[in-house]
Amino acid sequence: MNTFQAPNPSPTTAFTDPQSRRVAQPDRQDTPQAPAPNLRGDYGHTRDDYTVDQDWEKYSPAEHALWRELYQRQSAILPGLAAEDFIANLARMDAAGGIPQFDKISEQLFAATGWRLVAVPGLVPDDAFFNHLANRRFPVTVWLRKPEEIDYLVEPDIFHDFFGHVPMLFDPVFADYLAAYGAKGEEAIKHGSLKQLARLYWYMVEFGLIKTTDGLRAYGAGMLSSKSETLYCLSDPRPNRIGFALERVMRTDYKIDDFQKTYFVLESYQQLFEATLQDFENLYARLASLPVIPSTGVLESDRVYHFGNEGYAFDGAG
Ligand SMILES: [Fe+2]
Repeated sequence: MNTFQAPNPSPTTAFTDPQSRRVAQPDRQDTPQAPAPNLRGDYGHTRDDYTVDQDWEKYSPAEHALWRELYQRQSAILPGLAAEDFIANLARMDAAGGIPQFDKISEQLFAATGWRLVAVPGLVPDDAFFNHLANRRFPVTVWLRKPEEIDYLVEPDIFHDFFGHVPMLFDPVFADYLAAYGAKGEEAIKHGSLKQLARLYWYMVEFGLIKTTDGLRAYGAGMLSSKSETLYCLSDPRPNRIGFALERVMRTDYKIDDFQKTYFVLESYQQLFEATLQDFENLYARLASLPVIPSTGVLESDRVYHFGNEGYAFDGAG
């Protein structure tokens, strides 16, 4: 088992967004590891913290053109599906015209919420990843997918990392949440609780929904950088949509190679931030005595916005 091994995605799925495998391998060892040699990306020039130079001038005209195509295609479907703050923050970065320069966006982002972007060659070890987040540095992969990967990608690329994640870093509360999340990493590694912490990232950073006066909206990077899952997460009758509860999320298994079976819904980003401020050490001890909830499971205690129609039933967990 290795933190950085790519999963074996089913060719029948359109899952495009495994960025969270930085912290989200469900069956891995709970210890920091060095990147596997088969990782995509050039790890030959990394600094000790796994950052590299972006080398923006080396992107080709074809790569900028592919970026524009990805950006245009994805941004066109966001209205009515993505959270309005996501859409507004995406627009303020003015990144539709080509692959953005991290330094320029970092200035804008730092002024807004104190975060900066750092370039990385790809997936980075857990301890480095958590350390970056805790210090308000968001790692963004430097390479862009190939044209034939426009609909499907195994590892997260610059489009996922930037388009999917960076807009929410402009939200002051979500930005504080992500830093607080990163600060929990060292403790989780020490206590062997990375699985629980990874589930929080998976469900609430990659695939989170939020309740608004206009209905549910998506803000997670996983779905919002994937055309098909952006549509599926809100429009499809198959997945469960369940109100956020920290323990519930930390107990819930997930699949990394398919659309989600369950999405969790926030009342507000403040709800997520406040949940992350509590003592996780006691929480991990309590969770250790409770069963894992299957990704399709629904509990009697859940606040259910939508029952998935794939025959999911109360599974009795908990
Ligand atoms: Fe991601």
